[in-house]
Amino acid sequence: MHLLTRSVRFAINHGVSPPGSNGFAGNPAIDGFGRWFELLVTCRGNIDPVTGYLIDIKAVDSHVRTHALPLFERAVSERLDPAQTLQSVVRVLSGSLPVPLQSVRLCLTPYHDLEMAPSDTAHALIRQRFDFSAAHRLHSPALSDAENLKLYGKCNNPRGHGHNYIVQPVVQVRLDGAPAFSLADLESITDSAVIKHFDHKHLNEDTTEFNVNQGGVLPSVENIARICYERLGPVIAAHAASPKLISVTVWETDRTSATFPA
Ligand code: NI
Repeated sequence: MHLLTRSVRFAINHGVSPPGSNGFAGNPAIDGFGRWFELLVTCRGNIDPVTGYLIDIKAVDSHVRTHALPLFERAVSERLDPAQTLQSVVRVLSGSLPVPLQSVRLCLTPYHDLEMAPSDTAHALIRQRFDFSAAHRLHSPALSDAENLKLYGKCNNPRGHGHNYIVQPVVQVRLDGAPAFSLADLESITDSAVIKHFDHKHLNEDTTEFNVNQGGVLPSVENIARICYERLGPVIAAHAASPKLISVTVWETDRTSATFPA
């Protein structure tokens, strides 16, 4: 069994849309102050032994543009709720695609998306990226100075060094409940529970979570992801809409990230 994900990009414009042939621009391409979207469609199934395909990606593009695009056009025009619009999109695509639909992910900005699976259209996953800048030093008290230097290298610098961390919580929200858990709620909770707590701090010295002399853990990207999860989870769960924090991914650089829990 395979999963295949196809990204379909398109714009919704105020007037007649120009045709698009550039994959980055999408089809239709943007015109003036139109809105640009990316839809990640993941299908599941066995590959055809003759073609080697799970599904012809041209068929995915065609189904999205024929069946989903009108729903998005209506949603933009009537200012409908994106998650409820995604419910309609998931239902129409799972009914029209020739192979099982695993999930659909709607990227509303490069840093925020909604995901839904046809197996559970009563819930959606919300992702949003945040960032904070902080210093840290990797130095384990269980190792000698020489062992620390050998293991951590530059990251063992005695006065620490800085990173621009990116934090991405994934929250499961109910679509049938009231009140709703909104992106604004996630922004507000993450800002107070994580960003304000760590931004422009020396993690080892300014926070108890990462001060090993006060029972804290080493500020590795793995531990930062876990601590962010533990700080966010109870606050998110306490919201009246009963959302659930699924995981937190933290990027230390654009090449290194950790997700907790796996
Ligand atoms: Ni570092």
